[in-house]
Amino acid sequence: MKILILPDRDAAVARCVEVIAATLDARPDAVLGLATGGTMEPVCAGLVARAREGAVSLGEMRSFNLDEYVGLAPSHPQSYHAYMQRHLIGPAGLDPERLRLPRGNAADPEAEAARYEAEIAAAGGIELQLLGIGANGHIGFNEPSSSLASPCRVKTLTRATRAANARFFGPGEEVPRFAITMGIATILRSRHALLLAVGAAKAEAVAAMVEGPLSARCPASALQMHPRATVVLDPEAAARLELRQYYETVHPQGREVPLG
Ligand code: F6R
Repeated sequence: MKILILPDRDAAVARCVEVIAATLDARPDAVLGLATGGTMEPVCAGLVARAREGAVSLGEMRSFNLDEYVGLAPSHPQSYHAYMQRHLIGPAGLDPERLRLPRGNAADPEAEAARYEAEIAAAGGIELQLLGIGANGHIGFNEPSSSLASPCRVKTLTRATRAANARFFGPGEEVPRFAITMGIATILRSRHALLLAVGAAKAEAVAAMVEGPLSARCPASALQMHPRATVVLDPEAAARLELRQYYETVHPQGREVPLG
């Protein structure tokens, strides 16, 4: 794992935007895996700003989002379809057909998950998979105890995840109990995994992911098995890493240092 500890939150976000832009520079029609949530909002904003400056072209890329709530139609304001429309598709003027998500309101959610997995494979797999991390160590909605070999499927959300995401829902509105999510195996098949974590609330999960045992207790620890995983952190999210000094020696302030 490449651990990059940036000087602050903005720098961590900017580094992720750079990695995405570099991937699209190298291959404008790359297939990206995208994530949602609070952490990704400034990443979307950064990409939109770059696209408006003409510094990156988003029009040819295709993408697959990690997850969607079961039972929410794309038009529901708290669906991840609506999130993508609000934060990326609308502001960057993209063709929504090229940015795919599982259909949360499919009649048979398990069949929809299997169809989504096949759609990703038919697209040639994912070049760059963007990830956030839950305070309980989830990636996508692979909650603790998820099989580390899991495909796309329906997962029951933990009480903690539903409580954490309640902030995006209106008063009295229920956070859905289930989600369709890419599996850990789906994520591990991506050619490059890029995880962004910021803030003290993520520090414990980050330490378990990077330095803890490979375990379904912390699903993100499966990234230890990824051949190319980059973890971008701000100092607060890195605070519980025991080997922090080593990571900072290898990549001072998150920089790449030439060998020799
Ligand atoms: C969202 C997703 C989740 C989030 C995680 C962190 O598509 O897959 O794993 O990345 O729950 O969410 P925030 O960024 O809101 O703390």
